[in-house]
Amino acid sequence: MKFIDLNRQYEAYKGEIDEAVHSVLESGQFILGEVVERLEAVLAGYVGVRHAIGVSSGTDALVLALMACGVGPGDEVVTTPFSFIATAEAVSLVGARPVFVDIDPITYNMDPQAFKKILDARSRSGSMPRCVIPVSLFGQCPDMDEINDIAKTYGLHVIEDACQSFGARYKGRMSCAVSEIGVTSFFPSKPLGAYGDGGMLFTDDDEIARMCISLRVHGQSRRYIHEKIGLNARLDAIQAAILLVKFSHLEEELKKREEAAGFYTEGLKEIMPYITPPKVAGGRTCVFAQYTVRVKGNLRDEVARFLEVHGVPTAVHYPRPIHLQPAFKYIGLPQGPFPHAEEASREVLSLPMHPFIKREEQETVLAALREALSSLVL
Ligand SMILES: Cc1ncc(COP(=O)(O)O)c(C=O)c1O
Repeated sequence: MKFIDLNRQYEAYKGEIDEAVHSVLESGQFILGEVVERLEAVLAGYVGVRHAIGVSSGTDALVLALMACGVGPGDEVVTTPFSFIATAEAVSLVGARPVFVDIDPITYNMDPQAFKKILDARSRSGSMPRCVIPVSLFGQCPDMDEINDIAKTYGLHVIEDACQSFGARYKGRMSCAVSEIGVTSFFPSKPLGAYGDGGMLFTDDDEIARMCISLRVHGQSRRYIHEKIGLNARLDAIQAAILLVKFSHLEEELKKREEAAGFYTEGLKEIMPYITPPKVAGGRTCVFAQYTVRVKGNLRDEVARFLEVHGVPTAVHYPRPIHLQPAFKYIGLPQGPFPHAEEASREVLSLPMHPFIKREEQETVLAALREALSSLVL
């Protein structure tokens, strides 16, 4: 059994994907161009925003979004310590400093009250962060209405890191369209994944879109005229062609992910409270980029080892919160200030999850979990 089985997905769409790749090979246009523009138009329509800008990765999308908001050296950006490193890394890459706030222990997403507390304190001290990056972790959006309202009160830009949540709904809107800018990743294992790196920015703001389009091509305004220092952050046509095929199956795949998640959650009822299934908050859907459970009682690593021995691959997203990563030592934060993020790092365990997982495989996972707990706890 694989943690994410991309071969099964390829087998299912092989004819369409091979044809799409061949047509790019024959076109001779490999970077940006007509196929990338078609993907941008299709995904902008799906998400419901005016502009979609294809770029080279989710990380580069975050960097470009920050640059387009004018964030740079001396600025601060509020974000969560419980995410993939790229969220905070992008902040450091533009020369700004991340300011972390703790997560909600149920959804693992930014706690709006913790965010508000920081800004209230900053309004008294007079140094306000420029931007906030809430992350839609594991496939569901945070409480974006609250986060947007708080950010608006204090004049912060809002960038949703939707690298794990493409296709998720939040109160009738799509993830990537719930704040000033939404960014996603097309890393192969994502809900909409390419066969290489790729990413996209979404916005309704014409000026931000214009800036991102220029910044992804070295800050170019016209051929060989460069208004700003930018990046080489363009999307490949082959990836765009593959993404167009995969997008045509996305809704059907999201349904399958939801069904597989429901099957796990039902099966896990027997072994609660040792294992807690993920919870989707009201008014939203989850695309289950990961199906992440919580293992109580310091048993997570032993349970993961047991599963591995019994042929069940798992992953830990993420074993160390960002403020305790060696790369962020320069911020000087100790262990302790974000108890929910730190506890989650000790307890979370992601189970095999993808649209092509079979019921028998899920039964095997559940049986192995039951066995693990009866040998470790009971
Ligand atoms: C939450 C989050 N942010 C950012 C990224 C970065 O995306 P990419 O790998 O496409 O650079 C990822 C991808 O793993 C992610 O999960």
